Amino acid sequence: MKLFLDTASVAEIRTMWETGILDGVTTNPSLVAKEGRRFEEVLREICDLGVPSVSAEVVATTADAMVAEGRHLRGLHPAIYVKVPMTPAGLRATKVLAAEGTRVNMTLVFSATQALLAAKVGAAYVSPFIGRLDDQSQVGMDLIRDIVQIYRNYRFPTQVLVASVRHPIHVLEAAKVGADIATMPFGVMEKLAQHPLTDLGLARFLKDWEKVPKG
Ligand code: G3P
Repeated sequence: MKLFLDTASVAEIRTMWETGILDGVTTNPSLVAKEGRRFEEVLREICDLGVPSVSAEVVATTADAMVAEGRHLRGLHPAIYVKVPMTPAGLRATKVLAAEGTRVNMTLVFSATQALLAAKVGAAYVSPFIGRLDDQSQVGMDLIRDIVQIYRNYRFPTQVLVASVRHPIHVLEAAKVGADIATMPFGVMEKLAQHPLTDLGLARFLKDWEKVPKG
């Protein structure tokens, strides 16, 4: 399973990129606003690190305007995936962009039928938001299970990108149900590597090593 960072912080992306575990980055308008920087400047810096998949979201709301914005974003760098919201206009725009070879990440997906439509119009990624479903007392991971099954049934090439991930258990469950990608905040990705017994074990090894005769 691929691991993406869900952030527009170049510092966070650089840190994880250097560890070698990062496969891609997703951004959205809220994450970009948090950085207080120009969108395209941030995108270029992320792409210049060498990250192979960088999702950049359109803010247009009509199909024609989404297509125009998507073409512009895609032209910024070969690593760009154009994020398009799951609306009727978004479906029309995705159909056009995908037919031109633009890789589209359909976002704000909250049902399996929406995911079915994203696959039918040729989206490269579908982004179901599981944390926001959990917040509404609906088990987000059940949606991932349904989408994975539907895509397998019909051999859709659209990849399931689990979004709105809030903690490591979301990542673990996403991997168990066979999702292609999980995108997560920096803090969640950091936790994937941590375990208190690892820290305790290392401290004990280093302490015991002091007793080994040297020289
Ligand atoms: O980028 C989309 C998604 O991952 C947002 O997550 O935490 O705002 O629900 P969240």
